[in-house]
Amino acid sequence: MVIKNINLETVCGITSTLPENEKPEVAFAGKSNVGKSSLINALMNRKSYARISATPGKTQTINFYNINDEMYLVDLPGYGYARVSEKEKEQWGQMIERYLHCSEQLKAVFLLIDIRHEPSANDRMMYQWIVEQGYHPIIIATKLDKIKRSQVQKHVKMLKQGLDLVPGTKVIPFSSVSKQGKEEIWELIESECLCMEAQDGE
Ligand code: GTP
Ligand code: MG
Repeated sequence: MVIKNINLETVCGITSTLPENEKPEVAFAGKSNVGKSSLINALMNRKSYARISATPGKTQTINFYNINDEMYLVDLPGYGYARVSEKEKEQWGQMIERYLHCSEQLKAVFLLIDIRHEPSANDRMMYQWIVEQGYHPIIIATKLDKIKRSQVQKHVKMLKQGLDLVPGTKVIPFSSVSKQGKEEIWELIESECLCMEAQDGE
């Protein structure tokens, strides 16, 4: 994907109305601090356009990044951050659920899981939830640079088993430091969403 222009076009808080975009969307879900905003920056070839922080819970809104006026990358709020109130957690959950349920342009959902750790109960819940909404999530195993190359296959297997993935589900190891995996992710985005549009005759 050649990035010509990017624009953070819409930011939705808990009470915002979701946009009715006309271009395809792909969304990135995952627990707080897993690397969603870092991945989106890598995909956009930017260092810090999407806000990144050492403090989990940075992205508390649904952010729609317009790419080349062709499509949107959608940064979802991270779940599972302990230091927000139960009420806030519930509201974020409802906001994510509403988005997954209502967006008519959502073509693909990526679920990010830290390659180093066993998936949590929240990760499994999120995976099931995405599947129940009728999507076949693609798993991105983040922070690939933090483990030895010889350990990658073992950790990918751990993620597959831990999430109880539907057979055939893609798992792509990715690092926002080395950018390994980026081209494969763009290829998937383009095949899942831009080709679909072409097939619609647009
Ligand atoms: P929330 O907005 O809180 O949901 O977090 P997020 O999922 O958007 O995570 P973010 O991209 O802000 O990254 C969180 C921290 O992990 C930051 O300190 C990043 O620099 C770091 N990080 C993200 N991806 C990678 C990676 O691939 N490798 C390494 N080493 N660090 C990473
Ligand atoms: Mg973020």
